[in-house]
This record gives sequence, C-alpha cells and structure tokens, in this order.
Amino acid sequence: MAETNFRKTVQNLPPNPGAEMLRYGWQRDDVVSLGQGEGSDATPDFIIEAAHQAMAQGKTHYGPVLGQAALREEISAYYKRIFDVDLAPERAFVTGSGTTAMHLALTSILDKDDEVIAITPIWKNLLGAVGLAQAKTIQVPLDFDHDNGWSLDMDRLLDAVTPKTKAILVVTPSNPTGWAMSKAEMQRLINFARERRIWIVSDEVYNRALYGARHAPSFLEVSQKDDLLMTVNSFSKAWAMTGWRLGWLTGPDFAEGIIRDIALYDNMGPPTFTQFGGIAALRDGEDFIMSQLNGWETNLNTIMTRLNDKPHVEIYRPESTFYSFFKVEGQDDCLEFGRQLIDQAGLSLAPGCAFGASCKGWMRLCFAVSEAKLESALDRLDKVIG
Ligand SMILES: Cc1ncc(COP(=O)(O)O)c(C=O)c1O
Repeated sequence: MAETNFRKTVQNLPPNPGAEMLRYGWQRDDVVSLGQGEGSDATPDFIIEAAHQAMAQGKTHYGPVLGQAALREEISAYYKRIFDVDLAPERAFVTGSGTTAMHLALTSILDKDDEVIAITPIWKNLLGAVGLAQAKTIQVPLDFDHDNGWSLDMDRLLDAVTPKTKAILVVTPSNPTGWAMSKAEMQRLINFARERRIWIVSDEVYNRALYGARHAPSFLEVSQKDDLLMTVNSFSKAWAMTGWRLGWLTGPDFAEGIIRDIALYDNMGPPTFTQFGGIAALRDGEDFIMSQLNGWETNLNTIMTRLNDKPHVEIYRPESTFYSFFKVEGQDDCLEFGRQLIDQAGLSLAPGCAFGASCKGWMRLCFAVSEAKLESALDRLDKVIG
C-alpha cells in the first residue's frame, strides 16, 4: 500500500469486521440480515411531509453552519421537556449525522498521540474516528456476569487515566450490549473529569430506547454548562431516520465558535430542508417513539424466550437498544462463526470482535425488524446452533 502515498494514518486504520461481514452476506441474495444497526420502520409521514414542505418553500439553499436556528431552539426545548435540562440553543450544533457529530467533537479535542479511554464493547466506527484524529484508544471493557449482565468497574476506568488522557468516550446506552450508565456513575465520572480537565464525549444516540422508562440518563442531567462535555445524538434510531443523515452535538457554552470553524471546513453544515423534518420529529415524535419501542420489546421477549433457555447460549436481557448480544459455547472465533451462519443458514449478524478486543466470540443481532423476519432469523440460527 505504501506506493499509493495515502496518509499513513489512513493506511493503518484497523479493518472493520462488521462492515466486512455485511459485505460477505450481500454476496448472496437469500440472506436474512440482522447485522446492520437500524430499525425497519419507515420514517413517519409527518416528518417526511415537513421536509417536503420545506423543499417546496425553497429551503434548498445553504443554511447556517451549525444548523437552522429553529432546530437549535427545538433541541433546547426537547431537552427541557424530556430531560428537564436547561440547554441554551447556542450549545446545540446540528450535524449531518451522529457520526459527523462525533467527528466534530473529536476533531475539536484531539491532537496527535493524545489518549482516549473508551468503554468497550463499543461501536467500531467510533474507534475509527479516534484513529482518524491520530489519537490512541485505551480500551476499558465492561464486565459480564451471567446473572447480572454488563457492568462497569468505575475504579478500573478511572485508574486507566494517565497524563496523556484527553478524553473519555462513553456510549450510553451501549451498542452492542444495551448497558446504560447510571446517573450516579455519570455524576462520579464528570466530577472526576472536571477536576482533571479531561473531556467526556458521550454518545447518547440510544437514549430514547430504554425499556420501562422514558429515557436513559444523559450526562447533560449531571453537568454544568462549562463542563468539558460533548454529547452526540442522532435522528437515526428514535425517529427512524437513518437515511436522512441528521444528528446533533451539544457542547459547553464556550464551544460554539470552535465547532463552527470545524463544521465550516468539514461540510459547511447539514442539509437545509431535512432539518425541518428534524423539527417535526422532536416536536411531535413521542407517539412514534413509544410505538417503535413497543414493537422492539415484543421482539426482545421473543428472543429471550427462544434463546435464554439454551444452556450453550450466553445471553442477558438488555435494558435498552434494539440489539441482542450473545455468545454460543464453543464458537470463539466470531468471524468464522459469522461466515458459517451466512453459508449454512443464510443469516447475517454482526461479529462481536467488531466491538472491541474483549468481545471475541460474541455476536450482535439487531431485532428492530418485523416479527416475521425475526422468527425467520431465529429459525435459521437454530439450524446452526441447535
Ligand atoms: C453508538 C452509535 N453512535 C452513532 C451511530 C450512528 O448514528 P448516525 O446514523 O446518526 O450516524 C450509531 C449507529 O449504529 C451507533 O450505534
């Protein structure tokens, strides 16, 4: 590769086993894929209508780099209504996806060779974003216990901090485990980070996907407006808008200028008319969120009924997200197992090793699909694991 003369940083990015497995599955047309992290529901009509209207009204020009004022205000109102948090609109930056929000956050924080501590398992793309910023990730894995599921050893996390640590990366609720950090843990972590002037970057894309409560805790609930905190969010999951590529970032009250500069050089801001769909989603999307969640919970019940009693399957009921993360005894190579599922049963899942060094042998199944598709996928899984 050296002769291509691309950046060394890019040439050295580690492979993405999740993306590779998806590509492997796409080679066959009879594959049921629960490997990708998105719901199968269509974006609700009222959101589409709002974007249509915006286009018809000529909202097709460049817009403000950090997003339409009306959407920034709506994000602020949303945090007040749902989280009872005061977030000034000037602290909300609209982005062309949660992924972009993460890139903007990391680009604003990281210099070459800085260290980022990441709680794993973690969505691989986020580690890729750290790599692109030429920083180094230190992984601190969650613990797994058969009876109590996933948990964080906070002392271990804090012990991993060194003078080189610039940021702590948290995904809560977590893709792929469904673990969510408690408010007490968030409080302890932010107090610690505040004292040491370390950034916390919290990906809260799944914070409306909690079973039995309106939302998962947000770092915004325990922080002050000048804390070194950025939260990443997205319209993709809660409002079924993956293809819209629309998200947002929140930051401290002094971050607006620097994020504006980076966004300007990055993409000059998010698309204009889609943001009007975003406004409608935040304003009128609660019924949709509830109905989507009900469907996911039904599917989660199905999975637990069908997999929990299998003695050779290690699985724990997630408290949030639409992923089931499980391990089959004797299957320690998840890439090999993933290919086997595709070859022998036409089922594509995401391999656990895509989510961090500690997840070898685990598989992730996205259950935000129709009941029929899920049943068919579980039948196919049975064919291989018995
Ligand atoms: C933890 C996490 N953050 C961010 C994203 C991506 O969000 P977006 O579609 O807005 O880029 C995903 C997608 O799977 C995710 O799992």
